[in-house]
Amino acid sequence: MNLVRDHIAALRGYTPGEQPAESEVIKLNTNENPYPPSPRALAAIHSITPEQLRRYPSPDARVFREAAARVHGVSAENIIATNGGDELLALVFRACLGEGDRVAFLEPSYSLYPVLAAMQNATTLVLPYVFQGATWRVPEEIFNLDARLLVLTNPNAPSGTRIDLATLERIVRHFAGLVLIDEAYVDFADASALPLVQKFPNVILLRSLSKGYSLAGLRFGYGIAQPALLAELSKVRDSYPCDAVAIAAATAAILDQAYARQTWQRVRQGRAWLIAQLRTCGFALPDSASNFVLAQAPSGVDAAGLYQQLKARHILVRYFALPRLADKLRITVGTPEQNQKLLQVIQELIHTGHGER
Ligand SMILES: Cc1ncc(COP(=O)(O)O)c(C=O)c1O
Repeated sequence: MNLVRDHIAALRGYTPGEQPAESEVIKLNTNENPYPPSPRALAAIHSITPEQLRRYPSPDARVFREAAARVHGVSAENIIATNGGDELLALVFRACLGEGDRVAFLEPSYSLYPVLAAMQNATTLVLPYVFQGATWRVPEEIFNLDARLLVLTNPNAPSGTRIDLATLERIVRHFAGLVLIDEAYVDFADASALPLVQKFPNVILLRSLSKGYSLAGLRFGYGIAQPALLAELSKVRDSYPCDAVAIAAATAAILDQAYARQTWQRVRQGRAWLIAQLRTCGFALPDSASNFVLAQAPSGVDAAGLYQQLKARHILVRYFALPRLADKLRITVGTPEQNQKLLQVIQELIHTGHGER
């Protein structure tokens, strides 16, 4: 007999991107922001008092919810604070899905979704996100789905592309279940699906402080939805999911919009440069709305080999040996110096025949 439920024993857990111990590695594999967090977030951490640590934190991170509400022009009742965006995903899957319930998502997208579905013993409806004419397209079947939950990553990971607001609204209008729009990367895009939250009770947005606010190490995210839905999610969570230090730092970070926006702007500039340079080297890639690009290797160059060669030179990017991705590399936008170094090494490798098929 298994010590755990059979479907848990059978499931293969999520594999996070590599997190190397050495600091001299150029780390462009897990989409962290290359710039440091707001100095106000660091100051908030430094000014934590012994009393704040002795006591339990606010169970619902009230100060953060009020701050996020102010930033988005919504009410604090529209915000749920979570231990990273990943906790919001876990809450939604736990609250919505039981054995055999159907959850739909695009593939490729965030590879945690199938793992969360398997934890619930739910049935997955995998919608092919197709690379066509140098961009990615949603399949027509997305407008005619029978499922309890639909997860849309927007901007998508790993493609970096986004579904426009009108199409999103059409999808929501055609879907009876809950639509979770994962906006972990939206800070680097031109638009959010926020207007849909006020219109539709079955829409929830995921936000993360890991990317846009340079706080991946803090573990803080949040959801935006109508209060009735958030009240349901609150029933299936831990009592104190966000700690006092994280609440203080995340609140300071989100209130420092001027600082965050400046890092987003720098990332966008780096992204434009990287895309142009990679195209010059023969890579095929669509424009990106996030802080990474997904680049198809030039013909005759093996993406897996290139990934290995870059790693041997202490540059980490992400390679997925999966359908539609095996010929591509996902590269996080770094600082200008990191981007230049990456390009220089890629050019050397291609010219010397390394990474050739
Ligand atoms: C698409 C997507 N959603 C959600 C997350 C979760 O972000 P976090 O838990 O760091 O806030 C990630 C992290 O990489 C992601 O890529």
